[in-house]
Amino acid sequence: MSAFEADVKTSELKRVLGKWSLTAIGIGAIIGGGIFVLTGTGAYYHAGPALALSFVIAGIACVFAALCYSEFASILPVEGSAYAYAYGTVGEIFAWIIGWGLILEYAMGSMTVAVSWSGYFNKLLKMFGLHLPDYLTSDPASYTGEGFSMNLPAFCIVLVVISILIKGTKEAAKANNMIVIMKVSAVLFVIIAGVFFIDTANWHPFIPAPQMVKEGDTLKEAYGFQGIVSGAAAIFFAYVGFDAVSTQAGEAINPKKDVPFAIITSLLVCTVLYILVSLVLTGMMHYTDFNPQGKYPDAIKAPVAYAFEIAGQGWAGYIITIAATIGLISVLMVMIMGQSRIFLGMSKDGLIPKLFSDIHPVKKTPAKSLMILGILIATVAAFTPISKLADMTSFGTLFAFTMVCVAVWILRKKEPDLPRNFKVPALPLIATLGILINVYLIWNLSDDAKLLSTGWLVLGVIIYFAYSLSHSKLHKRGYGETFKAEQKPLQDVDIKIDDKD
Ligand code: ALA
Repeated sequence: MSAFEADVKTSELKRVLGKWSLTAIGIGAIIGGGIFVLTGTGAYYHAGPALALSFVIAGIACVFAALCYSEFASILPVEGSAYAYAYGTVGEIFAWIIGWGLILEYAMGSMTVAVSWSGYFNKLLKMFGLHLPDYLTSDPASYTGEGFSMNLPAFCIVLVVISILIKGTKEAAKANNMIVIMKVSAVLFVIIAGVFFIDTANWHPFIPAPQMVKEGDTLKEAYGFQGIVSGAAAIFFAYVGFDAVSTQAGEAINPKKDVPFAIITSLLVCTVLYILVSLVLTGMMHYTDFNPQGKYPDAIKAPVAYAFEIAGQGWAGYIITIAATIGLISVLMVMIMGQSRIFLGMSKDGLIPKLFSDIHPVKKTPAKSLMILGILIATVAAFTPISKLADMTSFGTLFAFTMVCVAVWILRKKEPDLPRNFKVPALPLIATLGILINVYLIWNLSDDAKLLSTGWLVLGVIIYFAYSLSHSKLHKRGYGETFKAEQKPLQDVDIKIDDKD
């Protein structure tokens, strides 16, 4: 029996997610603060009106990865996402490094999302004339006053989300579905309402000539082709999340068919919405107006809301703030849920302690793992300046995407006859382009993010040799590290339950 087969057969999770719930999980994780916040930075420091093309490039990078994720999900319907896929194809140590890298995407992503949720929540309170003291909304490093301080809203929202997740996947999915409907409506609202305030003169020139722009104390080249690409890296965070669908395969009713469907559908829906939002935004406001040293110094912090304010429609800012505040809850929910399922896969393989794969006997969720994660994420979000490290989330994601493109190709070569419900068309081309574009985007991330993330991966290797290797089930069982030809994973593990969603 292969390691995957063993995983599926011993899965104690409840299979409750149908194809639309899975799609909502993808959209729930993708649409968050990114689209409302990063668009100003992308337009002013990188691409100008061609920001829409940055969204196209980042979208294409994601589509390549999404296709590769989908092929894997159609073969191996187990929780664990890229970690699990690498486990059976490129070997345990690579899988470990990918799983370790995924912590940047999911756990660290959750921390930064919790902090940005706190920002929106405070804004919302202010709209209603309420105000939390600074010492309750700032981590100690960012706090300018004396004495104790913490980011209390960030701390509390993580605990609320954890309690929903522990209750049950079905309950969490229901909450997520409602939030998704609301936030897609908010994005559609921005597009439809914004169209009336577009001045097409703002789109000329669509791709401004390359020029040096001052960012902080450094001069950087912006615009032109290079600006479009660096813009794609800068806004990539807005796309992070669609792969979370693949962490839920253990709870999908018909994972081999529905997980690929949900990955691709959620990504396509969000790509179209994002391209339209960026066109509307750069049509409403001239890209140079996002200059923090210019006439609207605050525009870059909340570009979408600001564009409506300048158009005399300040009320739209309220809608956007409410949508972002509620919408980020589902990003947080899906990311923490994803992290717990990746840990579940790693723990089943013996690479991290067993308690991360303990399933609550009644609720059928990894309750202990969720509690540990919750305390960790809430504490880091409340007490450290984690949001400055948001780019590391993009690094972890792009790294996993690259590895999935590599792994799917290896598996195709090693196991050409394995039944696949979904096959990536023209795989050598798609996988090569996927690898190149994702590596290129990593290259375009900030130097700090690259350095710290590499340090994180090195730490992972040390932990592997210090702990995981000696606890690994694969090594205890004496399996070879790679996928064996005679192991036919999951051919007989078809799950036939009707989608009742
Ligand atoms: N894509 C998610 C966001 O933009 C992480 O918040």
